[in-house]
Amino acid sequence: MENLRYPLTQRRYRTSPLMRELTASVRLSHKQFIIPLFVEEGLSQPREVKGLPGIQVETAATVEQAVTKAIQSGINKFLLFPVPAAKQEVVGDFSFAVRTIRQLKAVFGPEIWLAADCCLCSYTTHGHCGILDSSLTRMLNNASVELISRYAAELAVAGADCIAPSDMTDGRIAAIRSRLDALGYDTVSIMSYAAKFSSQFYGPFRDACHSAPSAGLSDRKTYQHSPFNREDAIASALRDDQEGADILMVKPAALYTDILLTLKQETRKPLAAYHVSGEYAAVESLAQQGLVSRAAAHLEVWAALNRAGAAMIISYAAGEARGWIERMTY
Ligand code: PBG
Repeated sequence: MENLRYPLTQRRYRTSPLMRELTASVRLSHKQFIIPLFVEEGLSQPREVKGLPGIQVETAATVEQAVTKAIQSGINKFLLFPVPAAKQEVVGDFSFAVRTIRQLKAVFGPEIWLAADCCLCSYTTHGHCGILDSSLTRMLNNASVELISRYAAELAVAGADCIAPSDMTDGRIAAIRSRLDALGYDTVSIMSYAAKFSSQFYGPFRDACHSAPSAGLSDRKTYQHSPFNREDAIASALRDDQEGADILMVKPAALYTDILLTLKQETRKPLAAYHVSGEYAAVESLAQQGLVSRAAAHLEVWAALNRAGAAMIISYAAGEARGWIERMTY
């Protein structure tokens, strides 16, 4: 017998895998996952994305297979990023996005929940998320909101279950909501990119979507949140809540769990955490070097997002979630 001068207080919770499983305060389910889906117009072969092993940009011909594969892995919720073949001097042709949604909804119907990203960055010649002024140095809020809400309406009419505006203009949620309602699409929901930071960690995504910003404005700091300003992010998210967003997203996710936790306390709306391309790539790169166990590292990130209050997780590894969660030991 060990002498009991220092009796166990907390360590009993960690005695065995079953005790850890039983007393876990957060649990994961593949049902809370959304998988990003990239589709590019005019692409003849699926294309790999730099830094995102396992992820590819689909063609109009392969996108159905990609969805089927995800469904087989237990994932039936998607965030679609349509990439048009050509940039537009005057943006207004959303036909590829519309066609893709129609195609997927015709095949899969209510078997899938399809959210459509609603942003102009893969359409504009300068890669910014909205319309710029003539000197290409300032994003115009009103003109951008007008066009983005028109785009949202087209996505809803095409059959999207949810509109996910990622442009970060002010007033877009109210504008989109009223436009959808006026058209009779009041059951289509809005997942707002409510706290979206101007981040280094979007790098691989911009490669996938040809959406790196250029022109006089070389970054998105005048419309996305500053990593150094939590109040702006919280205030913007609560405003989106007020304007009628159904789901509030925080992005990037793992670096911003303080924002998730604060929002969890301040809103009754469900929160989504987007573990973005660069965050995913960082885990993948450690795993490739043998420095972390890939599954355990992703599970640890997901646990953190759950602890912080995320109801749902957008992840490039979502397709593996069910298997990893089933096989994990606590
Ligand atoms: C564009 C958009 C971005 C992402 C989603 N929508 C990139 C950006 O703002 O530059 C990033 C997603 C990721 O990195 O996984 N509006």
